[in-house]
Amino acid sequence: MTEHLSAAPIGKPTSYSRVTLSKIMTAVDVNLYGTVHGGVLMKFVDDVAGAAAARHSGGTAVTAAIDEIVFSEAVRVGDLVHAHAQVNWTGQTSMEVGVRVVAERWDSAEDAAVRVATAYLVFVGVDVGGAPRVVRPVLPETAEDERRYKEAEIRRAHRLARRRAIQAHREG
Ligand SMILES: CC(C)(COP(=O)(O)OP(=O)(O)OC[C@H]1O[C@@H](n2cnc3c(N)ncnc32)[C@H](O)[C@@H]1OP(=O)(O)O)[C@@H](O)C(=O)NCCC(=O)NCCS
Repeated sequence: MTEHLSAAPIGKPTSYSRVTLSKIMTAVDVNLYGTVHGGVLMKFVDDVAGAAAARHSGGTAVTAAIDEIVFSEAVRVGDLVHAHAQVNWTGQTSMEVGVRVVAERWDSAEDAAVRVATAYLVFVGVDVGGAPRVVRPVLPETAEDERRYKEAEIRRAHRLARRRAIQAHREG
């Protein structure tokens, strides 16, 4: 068991935070090219990630940042889209939520669902006044959860390093 697990007896397992939202895409969701608009999927991703963050932290959590969102395949009208989210990593008051979006094609529903997007978002638990509050640690259960936890730490380190580099550049 890794250090963050033994130091975190009051945490919640990763599986506790897992949430899935599903939706059939319709004509109002499309862009000028007739496929589903990226902004529609981004809202869907933010919604499911927010639900996972709220469940894990046992209260309100706000979106602080979207670290990355990749659209790997187009989504079409009629596709049944599922967004799966889980808390990958926790800090003091922040959480990284990973989201995997898959589509069941309306015209080949017996085929395996296709991955259409992947995203990583940072949420911060907040109190009634909107101030950050401490969130309980997430406890990875499987080797895959552990991998995601470590990769979230890499993304955080890169984000902080990039912020420091930009700050230093601005200060000349
Ligand atoms: C997110 C928010 C609560 C952070 O408040 P803050 O006073 O800047 O918080 P702090 O600087 O004390 O940082 C708190 C945590 O947020 C993290 N954080 C803050 N800004 C961040 C950013 N841009 N990216 C990633 N993490 C960030 C910090 O790393 C820290 O994490 P830790 O406690 O786990 O180490 C505040 O900026 C806010 O309310 N933003 C608006 C959120 C919103 O309206 N979202 C859209 C609708 S939900």
